Amino acid sequence: MTPPSRLHLRHRTAVLATLPVALATLVGAAGATVPGKAGASGAGDPYFPLSGNGGYHVRHYDLTLRYDTSDRHLDGRAALSARATENLSRFDLDLKGLKVTRVTVDGAPAAFRRDGQELVVTPRHTLRAGRDFRVTVTYAGTPKPVTDPDGSADGWIPTDDGAFVAGEPQGAMTWFPANSHPKDTSSYDISVTVPQGRTAVSNGVLLGRRTEHGRTTFHWRETQPMAAYLATVTIGKFDVEQYTTHDGVHVYNAVDPREASAAAPVLKKLPSVLSWESKLFGPYPFRSAGSIVDHASVGYALETQTRPLYDSAPDIGTLVHENAHQWFGDSVALTAWKDIWLNEGFATYAEWLYTEQHGGDSAQKTFDALYARPAGDHLWAFPPGDPGSGGNIFDTPVYARGAMTLHELRKAAGDRDFFRILRAWTAGHRGGHGTTAQFEALAERISGKRLDGLFHTWLFTKGKPNSA
Ligand code: TRP
Ligand code: ZN
Repeated sequence: MTPPSRLHLRHRTAVLATLPVALATLVGAAGATVPGKAGASGAGDPYFPLSGNGGYHVRHYDLTLRYDTSDRHLDGRAALSARATENLSRFDLDLKGLKVTRVTVDGAPAAFRRDGQELVVTPRHTLRAGRDFRVTVTYAGTPKPVTDPDGSADGWIPTDDGAFVAGEPQGAMTWFPANSHPKDTSSYDISVTVPQGRTAVSNGVLLGRRTEHGRTTFHWRETQPMAAYLATVTIGKFDVEQYTTHDGVHVYNAVDPREASAAAPVLKKLPSVLSWESKLFGPYPFRSAGSIVDHASVGYALETQTRPLYDSAPDIGTLVHENAHQWFGDSVALTAWKDIWLNEGFATYAEWLYTEQHGGDSAQKTFDALYARPAGDHLWAFPPGDPGSGGNIFDTPVYARGAMTLHELRKAAGDRDFFRILRAWTAGHRGGHGTTAQFEALAERISGKRLDGLFHTWLFTKGKPNSA
């Protein structure tokens, strides 16, 4: 759609100003009096009520960033191609901290105000449901991480040589204005300028890199739908390795030299891990892959899309886990954070399966060791299908009991049907979303068994369940 020209807008404003009586009629004739309402300030997720926004879908983010690693200053311009899903008189973006200097909608300056993590944008005219529109936000400042309910740092985390940028569950808003809920997935173009000698690593493919006047610009593109929390622009002094696998996947590994010797033997296994996971879970969902191994004390790794992010050299289990998320969580996205076991239970079970098939303990043995924990153990503190709050989503019951749920399903369905279920799940929801209810329905359909008791017991019942 063509944005109205500035000239046209100025002209219209002038006419309206001189003919106040005819205002309503005139604007009506121009098509702008559609009654609109304010888009919701959140996506409706009770765990993070202000994450995401109502009334529109972002199809594409075009982010142009410049970061100065010495004074930690970020300059940003975000251009969002969006589609209204309601008639919108105004809408919100999620953005925390930073100073916004200008917002445009379809090329025209728009009014905006800040309200906590909400950037409230009022365009000149109502945005009609179903119509595409373009928003630009110019902003700058020193990005700071947010603290999650479980106490961990999330978002833009400065390091001694750059920044570790991990946005799960709510940190995307610390560095770009977003519809920051996994319900809304988008393609991305991310261009980052950093001091020469530093590398900025993001998702997807590196389209180009250019050095000028002591600064290097990296241009990254992710074409597959991606949730905002899975975007990264991790910056540091990195050794870079690139190659293409036998399956035609482009691998880009960036490693902090301080982690290089510990990381090398594990990263060497990435192609074999991806092909092993492809056999179990279906074809790798993306065209690019890789790893970002930073040297930072963040305390967790993140399955940033196509290119997991580690705060230090990962062990093989962590590599298997974060790459399993490419199928479970990234390609198939959540619609609500309470379904987090669909990410973490599956990625954890991938670790058990890897161990089982590479000369280690069977998944049954791993299950048994966990099941032996007494009823008062933290493992049984809450059921994984209903963690109860955002502060619990990365806790042991989600990971371990989530994986135990899949092991129970495997026993009930048998190996053949169990792996068929996993592959049907990734194929049927690829590039889209999935819910716990949909997974249960699929498992019942493929196995031909009633599984409501199993899921009810393992996912939703408080306390230590009885094992079949
Ligand atoms: N999803 C990550 C993983 O398991 C973990 C994670 C992301 C996390 N953000 C977090 C853990 C915040 C604790 C706190 O691979
Ligand atoms: Zn995980």
